[in-house]
Amino acid sequence: KRIVVLLSGNGSTLQALIDHQPDAHYEIIAVFSNRPDAYGLKRAASANIPNHIIDHNDFAERTAFDQHLLQVIKPLNPDYVVLAGYMRILTLAFVQYFSGKLINIHPSLLPKHKGLKTYQSALDSDDNEHGTTVHFVTEELDSGANILQASLPINAADTIESLEQRVKAMEKKIYPLALDWLSSGRISTKNSKVCLDNQP
Ligand code: GRF
Repeated sequence: KRIVVLLSGNGSTLQALIDHQPDAHYEIIAVFSNRPDAYGLKRAASANIPNHIIDHNDFAERTAFDQHLLQVIKPLNPDYVVLAGYMRILTLAFVQYFSGKLINIHPSLLPKHKGLKTYQSALDSDDNEHGTTVHFVTEELDSGANILQASLPINAADTIESLEQRVKAMEKKIYPLALDWLSSGRISTKNSKVCLDNQP
């Protein structure tokens, strides 16, 4: 399956998708960054993946930026548009166009701890576990149906940094896995929900 990746920063998530690509049923056909200085662009270039900057500062409004992004991605005809540390909220037109094909990974056990600072939030809430969720993107932030989740116990000695390190390591396993399963048809989606093909 053909995957387009959107990112804003370091791109370690993209790197994991690149590293798993040889064994997976997906192909990353293009990478877009809304930030010119995103290190993820260099990672894409090193892997010979076409990579493009569409700087949101060049657009007066969020809708104009998203409209442009949509027009550029449409002709690539991706099966999935994958967010990998993409730090912008997408507008309705974009989300609706790619409905059921737009996927994100969020560092919490959704529906818990939506938005930013999830590690802090999990520690503050005295949760005994934390984790990460691959999910569909809908109009509402971090609220689309879950695709795959991985959790780990929070230890008494955990800090934001230690928790983040362990969750990020898990993300690098489950994001490629979820995309591979979707791409190979091991899991599929109906009405933006995951289902097993052999189930009615
Ligand atoms: C990841 O931890 C992911 O959970 C979140 O943003 C982070 C991106 O990091 N959505 P990177 O830019 O891929 O290194």
